[in-house]
Amino acid sequence: MPVECRSWTASERSCCFSGSASRSGGPPPPERLLTADLDVLFDSGLLEERGDQVASTVGVSHDAGLLLAHDAGPASGRSPAWHVLGVTPGSRTLAALTIRKRVRAALDVGTGCGIQALLAARHAERVVATDLNKRALIFTRINAGLNGLANVECRHGDLFAPVRDERFELVVSNPPFVVSPAADLMFRDAELPGDELSRQVVAEASDHLAKGGHATVLCNWIWSTGTHWSEPPREWLRGRGCDALLLHFTADDPLTYASKWTDDLDRWLAYYRRSHIERISLGAAVVRRAGPPGRIIALQASAAPLGDAGEQLLRVFAAADDATSDEALLDARFRLAEHQLTQTARYRRGRYAVETTLVSIPGAPLNAHAETDAIHVLARLDGTAPLSVVIERAARETRLDRARLQAAALRCLRRLYVRGFLIRERGQPEATSAFGTQGTVGAGRRDSSSASSSDSARRSGRRRRRQSSLASAAARPDRAS
Ligand SMILES: C[S@@+](CC[C@H](N)C(=O)[O-])C[C@H]1O[C@@H](n2cnc3c(N)ncnc32)[C@H](O)[C@@H]1O
Repeated sequence: MPVECRSWTASERSCCFSGSASRSGGPPPPERLLTADLDVLFDSGLLEERGDQVASTVGVSHDAGLLLAHDAGPASGRSPAWHVLGVTPGSRTLAALTIRKRVRAALDVGTGCGIQALLAARHAERVVATDLNKRALIFTRINAGLNGLANVECRHGDLFAPVRDERFELVVSNPPFVVSPAADLMFRDAELPGDELSRQVVAEASDHLAKGGHATVLCNWIWSTGTHWSEPPREWLRGRGCDALLLHFTADDPLTYASKWTDDLDRWLAYYRRSHIERISLGAAVVRRAGPPGRIIALQASAAPLGDAGEQLLRVFAAADDATSDEALLDARFRLAEHQLTQTARYRRGRYAVETTLVSIPGAPLNAHAETDAIHVLARLDGTAPLSVVIERAARETRLDRARLQAAALRCLRRLYVRGFLIRERGQPEATSAFGTQGTVGAGRRDSSSASSSDSARRSGRRRRRQSSLASAAARPDRAS
C-alpha cells in the first residue's frame, strides 16, 4: 500500500519526522519528503509497531541548511549501543570552531549522522567520513544523497585506522569523549580509561594534518586542582610539530559532570574516586600544521561559540605569529572585529569604579578587560591610520596625557590582539589618509566604530568628550575613584 508522507495528519507527520528542531528555520520542504510503500517501511525497520501505535525509528532534522536523517528521539540509558544522534549542542560547537577554508581533502572522525562531513563537503573537494558504528555510515550516506553531495566517502573502522597513511588539510572530530566507566552508547563511551580517547584523537588528528592544514577536535580531559587546566592537552600535543589553540569552556567536579551524562551516578562516582579524578574539562583543540611548530595558545571561553568562529581563530593564530614590538604595533593599522562591550559600575565607599569588558560575539566568546582610557583609542580604530596616529588624535580630542594613553592602549591592544578582536590591515590603506600629516581622519573604509570616530572628529572638544562613546561617560567616575 503506497503512502504519501505529505498527506499524513500533523500528528502522524511529527511522529515520522521527530527531532526536527531547527536553527535555520522550519521543517524540511515537503517536496523532499518521500513517497514510500508502508510494507517496505515496516520491513526495513523505518516504522515499527508499539502496542496499538505506529512509530518511526528515524527522525529527520533540518539544520544549517541540511536535511539530516538519524535515529528518532533523544538517546537514553535504554537506547541501543548503535543509536545515531541527530544534531547536538556538541555538533554545533564543533561546526562553529571549524576553519572553513577551501581544501582538497577533509576528514571527519566519528561522523554519526554526517553533519560535520556534509558541512565540510561544501568547501572541500572530497571528504572522508569514518565511524566505528556501521549504522552511522548508512545515515551519512543517506544524508549525503538527501543533500545532493557526491563528494563524501564513508569508511568503517576505529578512529584513524581507515585513513592510516593519509593526510588532510582539514580534520574535524566530535568523538565519544565522555570520561566514564560506561560502555553502553557508541556516541558517548569510548571504552578507554580516563581521557585516553581525547588524547588519542587530538594526537592523531595532528599527525594526519597536511602542511597548512587545520584540525578541530572537541575533547574532555582530567586535571587536578592546583595545576593549570591546559596542562593535559599541552602534553598530548608535545613534539607533534603543530601549533594549537586550546579553548576551555567548562571544568566540572565529578558529580556535576556525571549528572550531565547519566542516571547511574553511584557507579560513575565510584569510578572517579578510584581513578583519583578531581576535575573534568570540556574544551576544544584547534591544531595547525604550519611553519615553525610548537606554539600552544590557551584561552578561556565564557561559553560555547555563538556563531561561526573560524575567522576569529585564524586571527588568534595570526596574532600569535606576529610577535611584535611596541614600535611595530604603533606602526600597524587595526580595525576591531565585531564584539560586545559591557561596562559595570561598581559602587563602593561613595565612588563608582567602572570595569569594561569586551566579549567576542559572534564567535567563541573570549573576554578581555579594557582599560577605560584605552577605549578612546579603540573607538577610533578604523584601519586607515597607524596606531600611533590614532593615539595622538585620541589624546588631543580627550585631553588625556598622551604617554599615559599610549601605555594603556598598548596594554589593551596586546590583550585584544592575541584574542582575535583586532583585524590588522596589511598593504596600502584603501584610500590615502591625510591623517598622518594633518591630524584629521582620511577617507577610507569605515565600519561602525570608524564611523563613530570620524563623526566625533567633527565635533568640538568639549562636546566630543561628552558624546564620543559610552566609555567617555564611564571614564569620569573611574578617574574620580
Ligand atoms: C558524539 S558522536 C558525534 C557525531 C557527529 N560527528 C557530530 O558532530 O554530531 C560520536 C561518534 O563517534 C563514533 N565512534 C565511537 N567510537 C568510535 C571509534 N572508536 N572510532 C570511530 N568512531 C567512533 C560514534 O559511533 C558516533 O557516531
